[in-house]
Amino acid sequence: MSGNLALASVESKPDVRPLTSSGGAEIFGVDISQPQAPTTVAQLRQALLDHGVIFFREQKLEPESHKAFARVFGEIVVNPVYGNVEGHPEIMPVVKEAGDKYNIGDTWHSDMTYMEVPPLGSILYARDVPEYGGDTLFANMAMAYDNLPDTMKQMLEGRRALHSDRFLTARIDERNAGRSTQLRADRAGKEISAWHPIVRTHDETGRKSLFVNFPFTWNIEGLSREESLPILNFLYEHMTMPEFHCRFRWRKGSLAFWDNRAVVHYACNDYHGKRREMHRITIAGTRPR
Ligand code: SIN
Repeated sequence: MSGNLALASVESKPDVRPLTSSGGAEIFGVDISQPQAPTTVAQLRQALLDHGVIFFREQKLEPESHKAFARVFGEIVVNPVYGNVEGHPEIMPVVKEAGDKYNIGDTWHSDMTYMEVPPLGSILYARDVPEYGGDTLFANMAMAYDNLPDTMKQMLEGRRALHSDRFLTARIDERNAGRSTQLRADRAGKEISAWHPIVRTHDETGRKSLFVNFPFTWNIEGLSREESLPILNFLYEHMTMPEFHCRFRWRKGSLAFWDNRAVVHYACNDYHGKRREMHRITIAGTRPR
């Protein structure tokens, strides 16, 4: 950080209020449009690690301040399959217009796990929200792992699964119909895929967690898709038990920052006829191990 920026930074006192014992915490007392002092950033990072997803209210962000906040936590990753906000390749619009039928993210997932190095996390900012509906749900994958039967844990240990973006890019026209957040037409037929451990060890907390998700995990190594699905479907059902959840009710100006290594999320499409507009920035992670 340059001397000038360091001088301009604000020392805030984050007030961290957990939402559930499974994760999620609201943080008050931080204006994230302002550069934050290293001590404040360290407290926010710790809150993210402790709760898996942190939420802020009543923030006033423009694309530049959104990007500046994200860069404090790592490099920004440009989404390879969705479009971006005009003039800001780093920002992905997540928009459902009143006339749209579909949103994006309405399956339990971790962002972009089809990449060799999936993101550390995403920062989603609410610009326009419906007066009801459109909540986002998060589920704690370390807790899901801890609550597996020991025999299942032993079976999964050391195994890998293939993650692919074909769920999105194999049917681009079909998926883009009735939806304002558009997949890039030039991605058609260009698959991105990567092998990842099914049980991931968090590179900062050291906790083990389940690292599979419905849209992107394709098959388990050594098994076909058909052979893998009964096991994957068991894991999907287990890992999304309500006891592992927290649920966030958005307001205009709310912001969620989730740890993609620790939680999966689900965007609820229950606000038909209403508009919702978010901006998402994704931060670079490390190779899962
Ligand atoms: C996403 O999956 O990143 C979208 C989440 C949301 O719109 O709530």
